[in-house]
Amino acid sequence: MTKQTRQRLRIGFVGTGFIAHFHLKSMVGVRNVDVTGVYSRSADNRQRFVDAVTELGMGDCRSYETLEAMLQADDIDAIWVLSPNHTRLDIMRTIHAEVKAGRSKVFAIACEKPLARTVSEAREMLHLAEDAGLNHGYLENQVFATPVLRGKEIVWRRAASTTGRPYLARAAEEHSGPHEPWFWQGDKQGGGVLSDMMCHSVEVARHLLTAPGAARNSLKVKSVNGTVANLKWTRPAYADQLRERFGKEVDYRNRPSEDFARGVVALEDEDGNELMIEATTSWAYVGAGLRIQLELLGPEYAMEFNSLATGLKIFMSRAVTGDEGEDLVEKQNAEQGLMPVLEDEAGVYGYTDENRHMVECFRKGETPLETFHDGLAVVEILMGLYRSAETGETVRFPAPELEDYVPVVARKSA
Ligand SMILES: NC(=O)c1ccc[n+]([C@@H]2O[C@H](COP(=O)([O-])OP(=O)(O)OC[C@H]3O[C@@H](n4cnc5c(N)ncnc54)[C@H](OP(=O)(O)O)[C@@H]3O)[C@@H](O)[C@H]2O)c1
Repeated sequence: MTKQTRQRLRIGFVGTGFIAHFHLKSMVGVRNVDVTGVYSRSADNRQRFVDAVTELGMGDCRSYETLEAMLQADDIDAIWVLSPNHTRLDIMRTIHAEVKAGRSKVFAIACEKPLARTVSEAREMLHLAEDAGLNHGYLENQVFATPVLRGKEIVWRRAASTTGRPYLARAAEEHSGPHEPWFWQGDKQGGGVLSDMMCHSVEVARHLLTAPGAARNSLKVKSVNGTVANLKWTRPAYADQLRERFGKEVDYRNRPSEDFARGVVALEDEDGNELMIEATTSWAYVGAGLRIQLELLGPEYAMEFNSLATGLKIFMSRAVTGDEGEDLVEKQNAEQGLMPVLEDEAGVYGYTDENRHMVECFRKGETPLETFHDGLAVVEILMGLYRSAETGETVRFPAPELEDYVPVVARKSA
């Protein structure tokens, strides 16, 4: 990693979709950063993004027709990879090639979850970043969610220090289904809801169980046990709904990926204490919107967070009509009745603190809290859970058989 300190970090975005705009909004709360470039395939999407950067006063942003051109620009220090999962490796290979050939001055990279679709892909992502001498950050926002930052700090300082470490972390993330067709296509996305959303749950749970300041690998994964199911979207009427909404590429009558997953991860700390993660995720949850439920339990204490139990609630009677939107909460399902409202989604979900952390680490040449090593460790757990669900057996770690493992729904013939 190149050790340099910069006054400001100048970022180029790859991707102009849902998460790119979320990151951009959150960066209004981050200092010492400019968004100076954007690349995705569509000129219209790029222009919309440039306009949003201008409106937010986040920098002098240029739109690039090719990734190479953006990487070669003089005013790009770091890349945020925010494009779909199946595009990751090609993007990383291009970054690696440009940096190694001396055509790019980029020195840092941040990549959205999951780091890759398989262990071998994730390992290559890590290798390419390190071989090119890049500082790297894995974008797992839940680790930086404000309730996680505050809750973990209090639990460990007050309760764990006097009565013993926490031993059980529960994490759930559920919503009514993703917004773009590629998420529903197992080969493109890498799986179904398990790979899409359990990446959040296992990592935030691992983070909560890890002592503050300790290395993430201070906890060793001993075994994983997973279950996947199709609860809602394979029902014929719902499969047809998907096809109508997304086109024939999303064929849940014949090629579904799971819309429910459950995982149990057994770990051990440095003193041999047994620890547990219980995670559950689904695309079959119809509540007010996205629900993140987190718990951390120890011998004399319990922490709990539910993203829909908001302080702010707004009631709207049946006389209130208007367009559907996601203006109250992410993956919103209604515009009437008693609705929870997250007044600062970017903050509560963790994007603001995540980006502040990455920007400061990259500016100063420091190693972020979440790196591609963590992204790889998460993918190893996910593949273990998929394999366990396929075989019906618990997978014990280390598990070299996961190196080339591809989840059933991500196999080309699936
Ligand atoms: N942290 C979270 O909670 C969270 C939430 C949502 C998504 N994500 C992650 O963020 C990533 C993007 O998800 P999203 O929801 O933003 O998806 P999305 O809305 O489909 O946006 C994807 C973007 O990538 C661009 N794109 C597609 N192919 C590309 C390529 N080959 N090269 C460059 N750009 C390309 C698309 O624009 P063009 O059509 O113009 O190319 C589009 O702007 C995924 O990895 C997802 O898992 C994370």
